[in-house]
Amino acid sequence: MSETTLYLVLGVLAATAAGLWAWRHWHPSSFWYGVGFPLRVVWVYLTWKAVASGCKVTRRKRAWRFTLDSLPVVGEATRTAGMVVERRRFRMVDVEQAPRLGLMLPTPFGWRLRVKMHEGQIPSDYAAVAERLAHSWRVHGVRVLERKPGKITLLATRRDPLANVTTPDAPPKLLVVRPGVLENGEPWVIDFRTVPHWMIVGATQSGKSNLANALIKELAPQPVGIVGLDLKGGVEFTPYKPRLSALATTRKESVELLEDLVDELGRRMAVCTAHGVRNIWRLSPDLCPIPIVVLVDELAELFLMADKSEKEEVGRTATALLRIAQLGRAFGVFLVLCGQRIGSDLGPGVTALRAQLSGRVCHRVNDPETANMTLGDLDPAALDVARGIAAETPGIAVVAGQDGTWHRARSVYVPEEEAEQAARDCARVAPTWDELLGRPAVLNAA
Ligand SMILES: Nc1ncnc2c1ncn2[C@@H]1O[C@H](COP(=O)(O)OP(=O)(O)OP(=O)(O)O)[C@@H](O)[C@H]1O
Ligand SMILES: [Mg+2]
Repeated sequence: MSETTLYLVLGVLAATAAGLWAWRHWHPSSFWYGVGFPLRVVWVYLTWKAVASGCKVTRRKRAWRFTLDSLPVVGEATRTAGMVVERRRFRMVDVEQAPRLGLMLPTPFGWRLRVKMHEGQIPSDYAAVAERLAHSWRVHGVRVLERKPGKITLLATRRDPLANVTTPDAPPKLLVVRPGVLENGEPWVIDFRTVPHWMIVGATQSGKSNLANALIKELAPQPVGIVGLDLKGGVEFTPYKPRLSALATTRKESVELLEDLVDELGRRMAVCTAHGVRNIWRLSPDLCPIPIVVLVDELAELFLMADKSEKEEVGRTATALLRIAQLGRAFGVFLVLCGQRIGSDLGPGVTALRAQLSGRVCHRVNDPETANMTLGDLDPAALDVARGIAAETPGIAVVAGQDGTWHRARSVYVPEEEAEQAARDCARVAPTWDELLGRPAVLNAA
């Protein structure tokens, strides 16, 4: 090769490397789809047998194979003693068989890979080796999603999408909020019309109030009433007062407010009955009442009693909350209850209330029972993930909806000032308490 050609080749290689570096640096997502992912596909399929064997998800079976055997040469014993010949033979041998791989599809943060499990295997066999898979594939994490009997999907994430969360920018629909991002890189969506009541649990400083801020910020521009119950003297919700239709900061105010809401549910039920419909969404727009989202910060404060004189108020609170939880979905009143622990130790009625809260968010907790209590009988892997949330990553939580699926997610960081600004900007949208109670209003978003 002449010197000029050598320089030319080196120049082209250097320019290609610089181009790829710049592409990766300036537009990492298109680089991932255009270059990174195709290379990963080749690598994952080529190394799958070794990876599956290392992770012990292969099985042994007998199969016909060509083998190279060393055979001693027989006959003419004296001249050829000790000599061997190598011969190819087709015979039955024991082979290790890796589970069959299906399609590998890219996601913004990694890939999804379908796997057909061997007979006798179950998804938890793969969940148990998820960490080994992650190390073999040099990725941040691998999750096992159940697809259908006998098949699973492995979700690999190259880096933690929850390390740096920003608000997704698609405009929200009525009663739909996106308080953060899921581990698979998709927005975390809370649709109150699908999952009406939510229980947000976490130790102190785990991110409950931040999530409430994110909800307020997203709900603020929507034509909904927001009601706050904050028995920590109102320190959490008072700054959002311009956008709240009502705020209770004492137990007495809370009981009255909740009982007013129960009365309102009765009125809404009567309207629905009179018009022969099962829920407010089927009423004509001029009759449809304004949906109400009730946010409670630190539920325990509503239930704890300093002395016996408060017993009656606590009982009324529990009953009102339970009635709202039971009827709210059809008649447009939704609950978001935050607390460090929402268990029967708070008093009678809490277990029944918890059963009605189908949306669950479990932040970092101090004891495993709280995670169990929050996530119920969900996949044991969800409990392990919840127990493994570190104190250094507030806002990370395990989120479960009513369809039984769960995700690791992180709320977007919404400082109080940002939520306060949203509350002030949207103050004119806030319906008054009287408007919420009984006065029909027109819904202008759907
Ligand atoms: N999603 C997040 N991203 C980044 N930082 C967060 C996030 N959520 C919370 N934080 C940080 O963690 C701190 C504590 O969060 P937050 O006040 O929401 O906790 P909490 O669970 O409400 O605690 P407490 O029970 O004491 O009220 C916040 O001040 C904020 O700095
Ligand atoms: Mg808080």
